[in-house]
Amino acid sequence: MDIRVLKTKADIAKACGEIFIEEINKKSDIVLGLATGATPLPTYEYLIDAYKNGRVSFKEVTSFNLDEYCDLARENENSYYSYMLNNFFNHVDMDKSRINIPDGNAKDAEKECAAYDKMIEDMGGIDIQLLGIGTNGHIGFNEPSDEFTDATFKVKLSDSTIESNSIYFPDGDMPRYALTMGIGSIMKAKKIILIATGAAKIDAVDKMVNGEVSPACPASILQNHDDVIIFLDEDAAAKINK
Ligand code: F6R
Repeated sequence: MDIRVLKTKADIAKACGEIFIEEINKKSDIVLGLATGATPLPTYEYLIDAYKNGRVSFKEVTSFNLDEYCDLARENENSYYSYMLNNFFNHVDMDKSRINIPDGNAKDAEKECAAYDKMIEDMGGIDIQLLGIGTNGHIGFNEPSDEFTDATFKVKLSDSTIESNSIYFPDGDMPRYALTMGIGSIMKAKKIILIATGAAKIDAVDKMVNGEVSPACPASILQNHDDVIIFLDEDAAAKINK
């Protein structure tokens, strides 16, 4: 693991954004795996600025998002579809036909998940996968469990994830299920960049980096990937920096 501890979220957005810009400029039809949540927002902002300054174009980029809630309309402002449009895609020159996000309202979730994996495979796999990490060590919505998951699947969200994300659903209508790429899908990405910021991630980061590789902390599997960069701010790195 290539662990890089930087001072601020802005420093991480710049460092991470520059990697994306360099890779996209090398391969304009790159396939990106994208994440939602609070963590990648500064990186998306950095990339939007770079696009506006003519440093990068997303015209030929294909994207696959990690996950989407079930039983939530796409138009709901809390869907990951809306998140991606509002925080990134609507502000750059992404070709909307190349944007892929699992359909959490698909009638046949199993079929939707299998089709999603097939689309990723048909595109030649993901070149760079961006990840955040949950306070419980989840990546995507792969919650702590007894075994590592494989391909895209429908998951019941853990109590800890519901607690963390319910701030976005003040009316108490937080979805209980999601479709998520599995650990196997994530590990197939050629390059992985994980960002963790803030003190709430201290223990998850410590287990991911120093703990045994175990599905009890799904992110620990990244120790087995041979091209992974972990960007941490000083708060998230407090335990591992000791
Ligand atoms: C988001 C995702 C999740 C988040 C994680 C951290 O697509 O798959 O694993 O990356 O829950 O969320 P934040 O960044 O909000 O702390």
